Amino acid sequence: MSPPLPGATLVIRNALVATCDAGPSDAGLIANGAVAIADRHIAWVGPERDLGAARVDVEGATVLDARGGLVTPGLVDSHTHLVFGGERANEFAMRCAGASYQELARAGGGIAATTRATAAASDEALLADAVVRARRLLAQGVTTVEVKSGYGLSLDSELRLLRIVDALAHALWPVQTVVPTFLAHAVPPERAGDRDAYVREIAERWIPAVASERLARCCDVFAEEGAGAFGIDEARRILLAGRAAGLVPRLHADQLTSSGGGRLAAEVGAASADHLEELDDAGIAALAEAGVVAGLLPVATLVLRKARYAPGRKLVDAGGRVSLATNLNPGSAMSENAALTLGLACLQLGLTPAEALVAFTEGGSRALRRDDLGRLAPGLEADLVVWGSPSLEHLAWHLGVSHALTVVKRGRVVHQAPEGAAADCR
Ligand code: NIG
Repeated sequence: MSPPLPGATLVIRNALVATCDAGPSDAGLIANGAVAIADRHIAWVGPERDLGAARVDVEGATVLDARGGLVTPGLVDSHTHLVFGGERANEFAMRCAGASYQELARAGGGIAATTRATAAASDEALLADAVVRARRLLAQGVTTVEVKSGYGLSLDSELRLLRIVDALAHALWPVQTVVPTFLAHAVPPERAGDRDAYVREIAERWIPAVASERLARCCDVFAEEGAGAFGIDEARRILLAGRAAGLVPRLHADQLTSSGGGRLAAEVGAASADHLEELDDAGIAALAEAGVVAGLLPVATLVLRKARYAPGRKLVDAGGRVSLATNLNPGSAMSENAALTLGLACLQLGLTPAEALVAFTEGGSRALRRDDLGRLAPGLEADLVVWGSPSLEHLAWHLGVSHALTVVKRGRVVHQAPEGAAADCR
């Protein structure tokens, strides 16, 4: 006697399915497709006409008619700084008047300003604001969000932030997955004369403390000495300490100046090197060769009013893997708008709509070394989005509007756009 078929609990039919499981430039589109979900997991994906013959029992399943709309994996937002206090709207106005990121930082703004505001906020307020930001991301189709510390700048305050990130992960679960990252973000002004000791403390005391409390999956460094952050040798020391403690190395690299961050990421076997506006050709080759994911964050490039975007097209053409993320933070990207991110990736980074979507799903999972996320394939947890867009191109073309109608996490509907949402363009 053959074993009983898995019983589907939810079937999504009449969909243009993008599995994001067919390589960096192929969204894995299935026209007239369907997805069968058995409890938390994907049981089957394919053309709807084959569903009857599939090894899954669909009797009794709830049926969701996508009405011809696109169905994709849940977005994996692999780079955010969404736990912070205060705001920096004043800096936005100064930037509009021509001030650069470095000038604002030197004038006492930037990361130092948010560090002060974060210290002044209560744990409860930081958590409550972070939940709201994460929910805004959910409404944009984000089912997994990486969250960095980095607005503490001392051992106790970085541990405090990572504990708040942990509380956030519990508050959001099982609606969204949170991936926590320890970020060495800047050298505080009062330690500028004492950098070597500060870096040694991070490597020898902070990272072991973070690892022993299991507060982070990844260890990240902002390598940009001119903006009050770390030089390349300092970043190397921190990343190697993080790697030795079992944390996944990642890097903010070559954002404002070309300082060799991309090459450092390749050297230490980082999972990703993010930003990369100033990445040179040697850096492109190094990342591609080492299999380091290039993390593309085009909203920050827009907000910082930089003339040059990261070389997304060149990275893909060189055989590199790319991820795409919002970089939600109060300084360079105060936006939860995943749809805008996707559109900018096409318009300014030269990715095709398929490449941009794969970068925001499967690419994000690679950047976090979580290959269980970001694809629609049997056996994986069922995180997906039903969009009000009839095509991939439409999703990027109708710029900055969220087309997410129904968001499913682990097989359950966790977000439903209001009836008649502007986002429904079918
Ligand atoms: O990813 N580049 C460094 N960190 C953030 C900006 C942080 C801030 O200005 O508060 C970023 O762009």
